[in-house]
Amino acid sequence: MDKSDKPMLQVLQGYQPDHTPVWLMRQAGRYLPEYRDLRAKAKNFLNMCLTPEWASEITLQPIRRFDFDAAIIFADILLIPLALGQGLEFREGEGPVLEKMADAAALGRLNYDSSKLQPVYQSLRLVQAALPKTTALIGFCGAPWTVACYMIDGTSKQNFVQATSWAERQPDVLDRLIAILVEASTEYLCQQIEAGAEILQIFDSWAGLLAGAAQSEQFQRFIIKPTAELIHRVKARYPHIPIIGFPREAGQNGYAAYIRETGCDALSIDQNVDLIFAKENLQSVKPLQGNLAPELLVQGGAAMKTGVEKILTAFGSKHIFNLGHGVVPQTPPEHVAELVECVRQWKP
Ligand code: CP3
Repeated sequence: MDKSDKPMLQVLQGYQPDHTPVWLMRQAGRYLPEYRDLRAKAKNFLNMCLTPEWASEITLQPIRRFDFDAAIIFADILLIPLALGQGLEFREGEGPVLEKMADAAALGRLNYDSSKLQPVYQSLRLVQAALPKTTALIGFCGAPWTVACYMIDGTSKQNFVQATSWAERQPDVLDRLIAILVEASTEYLCQQIEAGAEILQIFDSWAGLLAGAAQSEQFQRFIIKPTAELIHRVKARYPHIPIIGFPREAGQNGYAAYIRETGCDALSIDQNVDLIFAKENLQSVKPLQGNLAPELLVQGGAAMKTGVEKILTAFGSKHIFNLGHGVVPQTPPEHVAELVECVRQWKP
């Protein structure tokens, strides 16, 4: 493949870039005053995701400010349940609330309406047209397991007891929900590519719920297998688009299995992953992304700098700098600027 002039793509294609690329999960969001201004005008978070002029503007805000190597389209993993016909609301100070799926009968009522997601594709087109030449555009979706967690429990308030109980007590029903999600997510990701996404990321934020030693069978069945299926289906149509997987808190065994068995092109790791383990057992297989603790970005100063340098030193090339999870709202924007400068100036 021809070498791209975007550092993000260079790493994912196996080339060594001039600098380690850097972007941050939740780089658009409440820690930015310009986001809060638009948010106040838009009132409703879902409206903001589904209005291309707003969503594209919000996607570009952190790019203008920090010159990240990648933009991630402003949307949400819960737009898939919305497109499947499930009620969804983002309540102020409470997070997402979905219409709960009481039982297997609720599965029969799901029906993917791709027209509901057209605004996301339009946002991608607007962003792609406005991006600097060396900035890559990332599309994304939630992994089937994580999206199923929200669909089954309705909120994250009870640690997804219902979803984990389905995994335990009615795995065949969960299989059916996950198959529906693989199908819808395949379409969603392929459409995002058509609209200009150059890289995809699959967020499995709650992979850790199935990461215990006693659940390794469930981890295979509800995480590895459906993710591999999703990646396989997208790659059958778009083999050249790199896919980054993020099975958050999967633990050493979980991450090791995921990087080998899902067909992902790179692995994003959380801040609890030991750097030596990651270098020897994961980065030896594929490029890594991560894994600064979001709290260190809140703290800033010497603590943050030391953390950043440890990660850069451990990983050298074959690495995309990022956090171990998303930017939190109380992060001072100046610290983000310092972080980017620290990564850009670093020499092995
Ligand atoms: O900048 C980016 O990273 C792109 C946009 C993006 C959002 N959500 C915007 C958002 C992305 C990639 C996501 C993914 C997402 N959404 C995940 C996976 C990543 C993770 O955080 O683990 C999950 C689990 C969701 C579901 C979701 N959306 C929750 C639980 C919440 C409430 C928690 C919170 O932070 O408020 C959201 C809302 C949300 N999604 C916000 C943003 C910027 C905050 C909304 C606001 O302005 O009030």
